[in-house]
Amino acid sequence: MTIHHPNFGAVPDDRVFIFDTTLRDGEQSPGFSMNLDEKLRMAEALAELGVDVIEAGFPIASQGDFESVRRIAETIKGPVIAGLARSGRDDIVRAGEAVKPAERKRIHTFISTSPLHMKYKLRMEPDAVLEAVVRSVTLARDYTDDVEWSAEDGSRTEPDFLCRCVEAAIRSGATTINIPDTVGYAVPEDIARIFTMLRERVPGADAVIFSTHNHNDLGLAVANTIAAIKAGARQIECTINGIGERAGNAALEEIVMAIRTRHDAVPYRNNIDTPRILRTSKLLATITGFDVQPNKAIVGRNAFAHESGIHQDGVLKNAATYEIMTPESVGWQKTSLVLGKHSGRAAFRDKLRALGYGEVGDNALNDAFRRFKDLADRKKLVYDEDIAALFDETVLRDQSRIRFVALEVWAGSKAKPRARLELEVDGEMKVHESHGDGPVDATFNAIRAICPHEAELKLFTVGAVTEGTDAQAKCGVRLEENGKSVDGQGSDTDTIVAAARAYVHALNKLIVKRERKEPAALTA
Ligand code: KIV
Ligand code: ZN
Repeated sequence: MTIHHPNFGAVPDDRVFIFDTTLRDGEQSPGFSMNLDEKLRMAEALAELGVDVIEAGFPIASQGDFESVRRIAETIKGPVIAGLARSGRDDIVRAGEAVKPAERKRIHTFISTSPLHMKYKLRMEPDAVLEAVVRSVTLARDYTDDVEWSAEDGSRTEPDFLCRCVEAAIRSGATTINIPDTVGYAVPEDIARIFTMLRERVPGADAVIFSTHNHNDLGLAVANTIAAIKAGARQIECTINGIGERAGNAALEEIVMAIRTRHDAVPYRNNIDTPRILRTSKLLATITGFDVQPNKAIVGRNAFAHESGIHQDGVLKNAATYEIMTPESVGWQKTSLVLGKHSGRAAFRDKLRALGYGEVGDNALNDAFRRFKDLADRKKLVYDEDIAALFDETVLRDQSRIRFVALEVWAGSKAKPRARLELEVDGEMKVHESHGDGPVDATFNAIRAICPHEAELKLFTVGAVTEGTDAQAKCGVRLEENGKSVDGQGSDTDTIVAAARAYVHALNKLIVKRERKEPAALTA
């Protein structure tokens, strides 16, 4: 039977819908919070990438979350915009209001169904959970015809009870049924069994889209997602770079490229414009300050690098010897351009494209180009890594409330280290001079004097972007306040300036995080 979905119409059997939850499940993981502008920028990139659904946030969580879902619903055209809600009335009303302006909208409501979660987390009897399923889906349908219902901890739910809950959700009007492996415990056979069972046993199952949502605690999220598709799931929930609670969610880029590269084994279609994958991944890394590991599939720096002589020889003779997909198919571009102080704006723009940043707006380009010229004056060879670090830094500074302006330090083995720091705070210039045990300490003291806060410095790291004594330094700062931690990054040829930038970046993230209260029952 053909499924008729309120937002997608008649659904061909080989179509898999991509539900991206980078801005919800991804964003709620430690250190990954984004402000409104960053979320909007990410949502635009996701729409351009071709995702079918953007889960824009959890509107009840805070005023900030509500506003970002609402702004995304107002401005982003194309994908369905979803807001998450627990089963209570307030959650659903808030989600309904947040997604209201969207051209195509969805409410995604969930409740735990496993014995463990019902007993210890919800303290509810199964019958009460079943009633909550009916109530929540029925109420959500007052706001939109497109309602997704999720069985939190679904993979550890008792099969008969799962069937009863799914049946109740379908009868109440849910159009998508999502079965999360919330704690990343399942193996592919478990996932296949669950979807096969639901499709065979639940009345009305042939009229809804089944969805899979897998966490990566055992490194099985992508494998479980593929198993679910093969067992009939037609929506996959995933995030860019696999970010998400604990070990993360299934990575969008890995699933999409598995489907494309192994179409013989996974013969399904989706709408992702794969050459945009790399730039979307880079944008997220830039915004959050977390690079993917070098060996990360598809988007890691080494994903298409061949180090061993035997492999290099093979690739030169025929790339297919060691490459199962082309680097270009996910957005990597070949470049032979080496930039130096005589390079112009066009070459610089080209280099940014080749590094996966896509089309860069004029303001960001001008700002980054100015910094590049400055760097090229101080450093003979400007490597790709330098440009990536410099551009990330430019984007990071762009929308922040606190902005680094200038720093002078006096240090050495004789005088007491001193730092004179200039910051722009909410558009106002502030200057402070501080002493400290060392130049970094003096600088951090100056930041604390200009922007007083209680957060503790938990981690300070220094590394080099490239080799050589003229290399840029890349510093990391972790701040912790009331059990919440944030990580900031900064780079510069001057190590102390890089440290100051990293501290300021962390502080900006802390401001975003402070506005958010943690909702009690949201565990994944
Ligand atoms: O992992 C999970 O169970 C979730 C639900 C809220 C869908 O993220
Ligand atoms: Zn989740």
